[in-house]
Amino acid sequence: MQMKMKPISTLPADAGVGLVVCVMLVMLAACNTPAGAPQANSEPVAPSQVSDFDTLYSQNCAGCHGAEGRGGASIALANPAYLAIVDETTVHTIVAKGIHGTSMPAFSQRAGGMLTEEQINVITSEIFSRWGRKGILDGANPPSYGAKAAGNADHGQLVFGTYCASCHGSEGRGTPKGSAITNDSFLALVSDQELRTIVINGRPELGAPDWRSNVPGHPMTDQEITDVVAWLASRRAQNPGQPYSAMNFAQSTAQHSEKKDVN
Ligand code: HEC
Ligand code: HEC
Repeated sequence: MQMKMKPISTLPADAGVGLVVCVMLVMLAACNTPAGAPQANSEPVAPSQVSDFDTLYSQNCAGCHGAEGRGGASIALANPAYLAIVDETTVHTIVAKGIHGTSMPAFSQRAGGMLTEEQINVITSEIFSRWGRKGILDGANPPSYGAKAAGNADHGQLVFGTYCASCHGSEGRGTPKGSAITNDSFLALVSDQELRTIVINGRPELGAPDWRSNVPGHPMTDQEITDVVAWLASRRAQNPGQPYSAMNFAQSTAQHSEKKDVN
């Protein structure tokens, strides 16, 4: 219907009236379609033609990022503070290419995914237009999305003691106020950038504070964030076998089962 009505504006006003009447008649006719008979717009849409954000998001993202972006196994995307720190180009690239070594899949057809460029544009731009709030961090002097310098893990351990240990424990092994975050399985699955994203934005959907509220009135500096992420990342390397042996293990079991199949 919308498509039929669009040209009206390009015609002289009097022609428009006639067209409107026609369009209304067509609409009435549609109401008269016998029950059960297919209607013009009821043909199934090919997956590559879906351009509606709600459908695209719920079919491709909600399983991990939650219905309406409210968070699930992975972070909430409907987080205006997050959307004020990350930019659209970055999100577009992440959705298109995925995040290597994590469960965030690549969605672009060029990277082996199922979505067209147009669909990735819809998802990306509507995440920002629906869930972002312009100006929300005005005056907050937010840290940069990506690390600007190398981190100092030793200093990061002190930072952890100041800002994180109260909930996650002095070694990050967890307390009733915050889960274990230095264990093998968590660190093996998460990228350094994701750790940074979570330190900056918290996980408001789970009650995790953002960079301003670990210690109320004492926001973390950009360098403190960089350093605490370096310390967490260093736990990953020091945990015997992480992440490399996990990968080797996966490979060697894959080889084993291949051999089994051959024999
Ligand atoms: C199978 C689970 C899964 C699905 C499906 C999924 N994601 Fe993710 N996503 C993740 C995980 C896990 C991460 C964190 C990866 C890491 O450690 O860097 C992530 C990270 C992201 C990030 C980056 C967060 C940051 O730190 O800046 C964005 C943006 C994102 N996903 C958007 C989407 C969108 C949009 C969709 C749907 C088109 C989607 N994801 C589908 C699991 C998923
Ligand atoms: C006031 C308590 C509190 C403080 C302080 C705090 N966190 Fe958390 N954090 C939480 C809660 C609650 C969650 C979400 C539920 C969970 O994983 O326990 C969380 C989640 C996380 C996660 C994600 C875990 C996951 O499974 O997705 C990471 C990573 C994390 N915090 C790191 C930090 C770091 C680093 C600091 C210090 C800079 C910090 N947190 C400070 C309470 C806190």
